Amino acid sequence: MLTTSNLKGGSSKTTLTVHLAQYLALRGLEVLLIDLDAQASASHYMGLSPDRLGADIGTDDTMYSVLVGERRLEEVIRTTYWPGLSIVPATVGLADMEYQMAERHMRYRSALAMQDLASLSTMLPFYAVLDRALSELPVDRFDIILLDTHPDVSFLTLSALTTSDALLCPIPVGMLDFASTGEFFRVIHDYTESLREADARRPMLRRARQPFDYRFISIVPSLYDPNHDSERKLLNFLKYTYDQYLLDPVLYSKAMRRSSLERKTLFEAVPGTGKNADLDPRTASRLMDSILAMGRRIEDQIRGVWRA
Ligand SMILES: Nc1ncnc2c1ncn2[C@@H]1O[C@H](COP(=O)(O)OP(=O)(O)O)[C@@H](O)[C@H]1O
Ligand SMILES: [Mg+2]
Repeated sequence: MLTTSNLKGGSSKTTLTVHLAQYLALRGLEVLLIDLDAQASASHYMGLSPDRLGADIGTDDTMYSVLVGERRLEEVIRTTYWPGLSIVPATVGLADMEYQMAERHMRYRSALAMQDLASLSTMLPFYAVLDRALSELPVDRFDIILLDTHPDVSFLTLSALTTSDALLCPIPVGMLDFASTGEFFRVIHDYTESLREADARRPMLRRARQPFDYRFISIVPSLYDPNHDSERKLLNFLKYTYDQYLLDPVLYSKAMRRSSLERKTLFEAVPGTGKNADLDPRTASRLMDSILAMGRRIEDQIRGVWRA
């Protein structure tokens, strides 16, 4: 289970997650993509949006209904037109999950504070609800589950970060936003500590692995434009800072911006045709190379975890 996350919006999270999902499916893995962002951009990419004729998606069809216990996960998983890739779509209704989880969190915290063991024995902390829903899937149903999150530290994003085995974190090189990336890792660290403390006070919840104990973390410099001297310097700085966690950058390209406007991935858009007619196919192919390189690195890391 791998989560794509970062506090910053527009850092190419969804674009990279969907490309990775399609790439891994092309490589023969059974992939489940779960859209945990109420903006539903991953769902849009895969042709599933409420405004599309025949798509017909409501909040009932999202993780919302699974997390509140109305439906089973199996019931909201859809196959897509992309062989090997299934999806749980999102709609704006998913945003209501925040209220549900906030309320659960308050009840849990007060039961914990009062050491109300009777209540605690029937309650799950907010972050364990997604975990439980996912654990109901038969282990051999999917090879990998990708979670696309909203850029914030919401309850849903924290649930994804807690449940995941691995983390993919795009950093937009040109946006010079190391402050918010540093902040992101600090928030993760703080939550790690407080969840460990809560788990320790409630031994029945203790599991084999601690939350946030990732098998691997991959940081991808995204939207990278090597034509800018400043970006080349920043990339060097990133290499120095994140060292073995840093993957090769994924390039910025108008081809990507345009194809995403058509809700197509680079695998689907043909450069030099349609809206991309005026674009240099060489730029598109360099971008494609950088995406494939990211896919290969992550596939290697996943297979490495399986072998371990
Ligand atoms: N490699 C890229 N080159 C150019 N534009 C990109 C690239 N990746 C993403 N974009 C554009 O950036 C915007 C934000 O991308 P998105 O993947 O939705 O980011 P996030 O999920 O982090 O908010 C989209 O309009 C998309 O078209
Ligand atoms: Mg997104």
